[in-house]
Amino acid sequence: MKQYNTSEVDRRRNFGIISHPDAGKTTLTEKLLLFGGAIQLAGAVKAKKADRHATSDWMSIEKERGISVTTSVMKFTYKNFEINLLDTPGHQDFSEDTYRVLTAVDSALMVIDSAKGVENQTKKLMEVCRMRNTPIITFINKLDREGLDPFDILDDIEEKLQIETVPLSWPIGMGKRFKGVYNLYDKSLNLFTAGSHGDDDNIKIKDLNDPKLDLYLKSQADELREDIELIEGAVATLDKKHYLQGTQTPVFFGSAVNNFGVKELLEAFVKMAPAPVSRKTFTRYVSPYEKSFSGFVFKIQANMNPAHRDRIAFFRICSGKFTRGMKVFQHRTGKVVTFGNATIFMAKERANVEEAYPGDVIGIYNHGTIKIGDTFTDKEPLKFMGIPNFAPEHFRRIILKNPLKQKQLQKGLIQLSEEGAVQVFKLLNGFDIILGAVGVLQFEVTIARLKAEYGVDAVYEHVDLSVARWVACSDKKKFDEFCKSNQSNIAIDSENRTTFLTTSTWQLDFCQKQWKDIEFHKSCE
Ligand code: G4P
Repeated sequence: MKQYNTSEVDRRRNFGIISHPDAGKTTLTEKLLLFGGAIQLAGAVKAKKADRHATSDWMSIEKERGISVTTSVMKFTYKNFEINLLDTPGHQDFSEDTYRVLTAVDSALMVIDSAKGVENQTKKLMEVCRMRNTPIITFINKLDREGLDPFDILDDIEEKLQIETVPLSWPIGMGKRFKGVYNLYDKSLNLFTAGSHGDDDNIKIKDLNDPKLDLYLKSQADELREDIELIEGAVATLDKKHYLQGTQTPVFFGSAVNNFGVKELLEAFVKMAPAPVSRKTFTRYVSPYEKSFSGFVFKIQANMNPAHRDRIAFFRICSGKFTRGMKVFQHRTGKVVTFGNATIFMAKERANVEEAYPGDVIGIYNHGTIKIGDTFTDKEPLKFMGIPNFAPEHFRRIILKNPLKQKQLQKGLIQLSEEGAVQVFKLLNGFDIILGAVGVLQFEVTIARLKAEYGVDAVYEHVDLSVARWVACSDKKKFDEFCKSNQSNIAIDSENRTTFLTTSTWQLDFCQKQWKDIEFHKSCE
């Protein structure tokens, strides 16, 4: 096939950041944007953070959702690279969206707090990256503070995340004794001066015996020599193939707040991270270099302002070229629609987009006609794979205050589940409707939207559930037997898929051991 868009594709990078709250994602994002010349946004990212900590009543949800539209995708230019940074909401607004964003990226940056090592949310996000073998570059942050021994951090990553680590830089001391990092590849020293705001001094040295090392590092020079000797004996060497397969992660050390080590990280990122890659559909792989246009929706953001009921569908372009006003085919509905007023998310502002390329994300305004996972192409009826639902971890029983609004409730819940705002389950036993979410803010948004958009007053009741798995079995008889024996735990989701709901992972394990032929899935297309 003739290559198309070659240089536009090759200069694009599309990534997300995976981290646990407070590891430094927001700070790092700001510094990356600074290098991209999108300085104006620095305040906006901070504003979002300040907002995040506010209580989530109706107004603040609205504000939060409003603000997060502008920071959902941050596009910036660095050298000749067009970079799309897709936000992975992490604090109160951690939700299924956070997972789903990772289905739309080509690679990820993992930020780890040097004092904490691998934390829970990072582990969960890593599981999602695993599903598509997403390549990951690691940044160990906050070296200006006392933290864990760097070797222990690497061990922790290898053990908890099952990925081989390859340090490309190495810290010299930490906290008050933090002197900078030694670049293992080009054998240079990058010296740290607190509060210098990242005017990285790069000092080239011949080798580790260079007396310059003693001059700058004094007694810490020998410590560095010992560390490097250890690394050279014990640590794997970088193999780009393994990085691209997601089995090996290059590691950098630094301090985001001091803008130290960030430029080095960005340089490595644009060199190593993949340009848009081919994506799987149910019928074939789609190359980003194909001339025909295609892409999919991975996130829908509703406008919480009752005066503006529009939604923005976040659409990742996979092949071809987007031009304003183009007509596209919506695979699910079979309709041809015009992409008229699409938005591109520049870090500095939102702008109407005239053209966009694979790896870019555009925002499509709609009034509820687009579902998560929808594929749009210029003609071929394709459907991209890998945009699943993720098993919820929080559950509520929803109760109508006015039983006469049953129909509106049904309608609202169908729509909200199609937008990925919440998942809906009907228990086989009884009439209860159970809502499931990855993050609890999703429940608040759901109640608020049911009221504002469907006139439905509803409340939640606690349910003793914390685990959901989609279940399947090739043997229908066995499957029916399983469903019958576990009737009180079986529910049907909004796509008519059979789901097993239970109180704890312990209960799940117990059940899995009893029913070895049944498959239990944590995600489901
Ligand atoms: P997040 O988005 O991952 O949740 O983390 P965020 O960047 O908001 O950083 C969390 C806290 O860690 C912030 O402090 C931030 O300033 C601090 N931080 C980030 N990078 C570094 C670093 O390299 N060294 C040190 N010592 N601290 C760092 P805060 O007090 O919560 O907020 P702020 O008042 O400083 O904004």
